[in-house]
Amino acid sequence: MRARLRINGSLAPVDDRLYSSFIEHMGRAVYTGIYEPGHPTADAEGFRGDVADLIRPLRLSHIRYPGGNFLSGYQWKDGIGPKERRPVRPDLAWFALEPNQVGTDEFLQWCERLEIQPMLGVNLGTGTPREAVELLEYVNGSHSSYWADRRRENGREAPYGVKLWCLGNEMDGPWQICAKTAEEYARTACETAKMMKWLDPSIELVACGSSFRAMPSFGSWEKTVLEHCYPYIDYISLHQYYTNEEDDLPSFLAKPLEMEDSIREISAICDQEKAARGSSRDIHLSFDEWNVWYHYQKAGIFPPKWTVPRPIEEENYDDVDPLVTGAMMNALLRHADRVKIACLAQLVNVIAPIMTEPGGPARIQTIYYPFLLASRFGRGTALTLESEVPHYDCAFRSNVPYLDCAAVEGRDGSMNFFLVNRSEEPVELSLELPRSYAAAELSTLRGLRIVSEPCALRPGQSESLLPPRSWSMLRVVPQPL
Ligand code: AHR
Repeated sequence: MRARLRINGSLAPVDDRLYSSFIEHMGRAVYTGIYEPGHPTADAEGFRGDVADLIRPLRLSHIRYPGGNFLSGYQWKDGIGPKERRPVRPDLAWFALEPNQVGTDEFLQWCERLEIQPMLGVNLGTGTPREAVELLEYVNGSHSSYWADRRRENGREAPYGVKLWCLGNEMDGPWQICAKTAEEYARTACETAKMMKWLDPSIELVACGSSFRAMPSFGSWEKTVLEHCYPYIDYISLHQYYTNEEDDLPSFLAKPLEMEDSIREISAICDQEKAARGSSRDIHLSFDEWNVWYHYQKAGIFPPKWTVPRPIEEENYDDVDPLVTGAMMNALLRHADRVKIACLAQLVNVIAPIMTEPGGPARIQTIYYPFLLASRFGRGTALTLESEVPHYDCAFRSNVPYLDCAAVEGRDGSMNFFLVNRSEEPVELSLELPRSYAAAELSTLRGLRIVSEPCALRPGQSESLLPPRSWSMLRVVPQPL
């Protein structure tokens, strides 16, 4: 099969926050994931060094925390102060016991050590607007006030200066602790947002969109939230996980195209509200949960409830899943003008690229590399592409291109093409280039390894062969590699 690609123009700068992830108090993400005092690699605070070593190469911009569904029952005040006095609470989101040994200070200081920015959530399930503002005062307060002084008493003098905050999580979902109607959520989010910005005008706020595109409330929920919150928020969230429960590979591989539909649809709703108000300010999108998630549920494993930690959703990724996560990353890059934040959900042990054994080693999964290489080489300016690619029809969609691609011009003048071959056949790819380059290299994911080889390069043109059903990155550089 043959395909041709040509660069059409520049779309937008890629926001570094597209390369963010998510740690929730869920399963073994925190306890025996990032945090395991007594582990041979643990640092003085009890955080695993081997896990940090696998996180660092991902060059994450932000980590969203502490949930997720967990957020809607979380009392942040349980997680501060002397550890021996912190309560153990039942977590009704995941039917586990939460020992509160990792809380706001531990998480924020871990982020500082890793040089990753935190994206904190406030509880709008059982939590109140007042508790949300108190958390902001604890974290960012610079004056001598009650909660800022409690932070100082707990050993942290300087404010953390957390800039990015989520107003609750998936509040439309019936599974959510204290789920709300659109009207209920919109009013609470609006009043919480107002107070938070009054206290700290430097912060940015993400309001909850619908939990996923197939929710009956998708669209109408966002419309209501924007009607109430537009002046006080900066982003609206989208979440999406894809499954292959039907064992239908051509459809599974095409699902990321629906992610793009949802980006277009929610952008249109934001713009409609902007026009209705005559506002000059855009609301951008925060795709703050995205991944493949179905293997664990399909296996029907139900660990006993009320343990700490409760080892749930330990997804084992196969060789097809990185093609889907790679195409999801491509969808985000193709909409870099609108999507400013995106979190691969999650980071460790729970639907994650990194897995740990308690007391033992940490390892990566197949979905690690497409994210890593996009994070490393997909920074700069997102490009628009013209393509001549054969298409196919699948169970839920027609005209699915066999080749999925996104391109970014790096700050070093390189051109980086992220390519998913959805076909069972190899694809002979001709790439028209705007000028001459010194070298071209194709890096292809093979299981848990990346195999790189030089590709044919002529003035203004490169030729490469993409293996069947593969994820690859084609990198064209002005200097010899
Ligand atoms: O990431 C796992 C869960 O998926 C999150 O807690 C929730 O927000 C979503 O439904």
